[in-house]
Amino acid sequence: MNDIIGMIAEVTTPTEVEFVASKDHIPQVGDYVVLEFDGNRSVLGMITHVERGSMELSERSLRFAEEVEKIVRMIGGKPSNWARATVRLLGMVTSTENGIELVMPRSPPPTGGAVRRAPSDVLRRIFSDAGQVKLGHLLTREDVDVKIDINEVVSRHLAVLAVTGAGKSNSIAVIIKEVVERGGPVVLFDMHSEYAGIDLGNDCPVIELDPFLDVNKLSLKELAKLLGVSYEKAAKQYIYLRRAWKLIDQAHKKDKINELIREAGGNPGGDVDFLECLELVVKKMLDATGSDRKSVKLIDSEIEVESKDKGSIYSLLARIGNLKETYGDIIKPNEGEIADRIRGGALVVVKLGSVDTEISDVIVGHALSTILARAKRRVMHKMPHVPVLTVLEEAHILIPNDRTTYTREAASRIAREGRKFGVGLILVSQRPKKLDQDVLSQMVNKIILRIVEPEDQSYVIRATEFMSEEMLGYLPSLNVGEAILVGPMVKIPAMVKFDKFEGKRGGVSIKATDIWGRSSEEKGNPYWEMIR
Ligand SMILES: Nc1ncnc2c1ncn2[C@@H]1O[C@H](COP(=O)(O)OP(=O)(O)O)[C@@H](O)[C@H]1O
Ligand SMILES: [Mg+2]
Repeated sequence: MNDIIGMIAEVTTPTEVEFVASKDHIPQVGDYVVLEFDGNRSVLGMITHVERGSMELSERSLRFAEEVEKIVRMIGGKPSNWARATVRLLGMVTSTENGIELVMPRSPPPTGGAVRRAPSDVLRRIFSDAGQVKLGHLLTREDVDVKIDINEVVSRHLAVLAVTGAGKSNSIAVIIKEVVERGGPVVLFDMHSEYAGIDLGNDCPVIELDPFLDVNKLSLKELAKLLGVSYEKAAKQYIYLRRAWKLIDQAHKKDKINELIREAGGNPGGDVDFLECLELVVKKMLDATGSDRKSVKLIDSEIEVESKDKGSIYSLLARIGNLKETYGDIIKPNEGEIADRIRGGALVVVKLGSVDTEISDVIVGHALSTILARAKRRVMHKMPHVPVLTVLEEAHILIPNDRTTYTREAASRIAREGRKFGVGLILVSQRPKKLDQDVLSQMVNKIILRIVEPEDQSYVIRATEFMSEEMLGYLPSLNVGEAILVGPMVKIPAMVKFDKFEGKRGGVSIKATDIWGRSSEEKGNPYWEMIR
């Protein structure tokens, strides 16, 4: 039967058929086949499930290995192999001006039709010719490169989901390298500083940033979040914060900030620091609660203060002091924005490993909002604009499903509007079920590597169109770097083996036994000092 690998035995649903494999041919999950259709047409499909058995050994109530051994010996050592495979139909391959297109047939293919392996040149036209960014090759075909359409990632976003160690960060590094080489700007929010020291090769510039926040660039909401003052939980504190902040903002806009500082009892001159100003103004408010005049007059404004709010104002002042003390080295005035550091054809890595979740949330949320706001402004004013790709590692931390965060709001805005303004978002996570489901479902493209936890699997299934129950079954058995790609970045779903990132990726994990071994060999040596 030359290149025929099986015959269609059953049509299970309009989009799914089962075939019986030719003798001694074991189909591979993830491989592509063409099914004979009426006349000379054929339909492309992907194998999603394979069952294998042998005539001699199945349907017997065998209970001991010895029984199986006996039968195998009796039949001369070689049990027959049969295989049945499920194929998900993908469409009829038709050539158009824009390359290859897949059109679903209006009826299922007939039973009894032949099944052939899809020719590699057809697959190459689908997976290699349509995209620009090479990720690897088809899992079942080393000779077919898989390239994704990165334009679709920028406009429809991407989620990279898998257990730790499955190859998420490697995939990200491969994508980033290709994008940067094509002149694209990339900003990577590196929650665990695992990309520190990354080298993309080919002299691609990498700009590593320690986290910083320019307090003068923050909105009232962001500042309130940093101070831990929410309107819901501490309305009074929030109201006084807002009054003080508005005053400072006005003074700044009217170029009267030095005047304000002087009147509030500070030393004007040098770089303006909104947080210092805020502290001075709130101190003035606190003073006023003890005096007869129940207001603070600064520059040409007057702020109402009530004596009974002394406690709230005191708390607010304490929070400002606390913020300065805790994040003094991160909150810097006049440092500018992370968005200012973005360059075409360069990677910006924001290393967040050393800071806690609270401030990371404001740093990432603020940066994402700024990037979107700038893109929006440029597009609206018809100014030249370069699309930007943003990547958030460990996305479940800052975009969790159980509380609103600043980053979640910003990410959700990008997910909804990024398409129009050329801001793409890639979310990376090993805990899909802990990720906000609304945002996750808007990441239309997905790279799914090994996933073991059943709840994580079902979340992925729910958020992914193509994934079938059968495919789900294979998620735990994927090896490192093996992934299922779905979404418009690929013409049809693909199982790929990712390339190994060639450059140097930072963040190598420590091998404890190597160090322990060395230290015991050199007893009494300074190694022991390293713990103290
Ligand atoms: N496609 C691949 N080919 C070869 N090795 C890989 C591949 N993907 C990942 N690895 C290796 O597997 C390990 C874990 O990969 P990593 O990307 O850090 O996983 P994750 O980010 O999912 O925790 C690394 O040592 C990496 O070099
Ligand atoms: Mg990782």
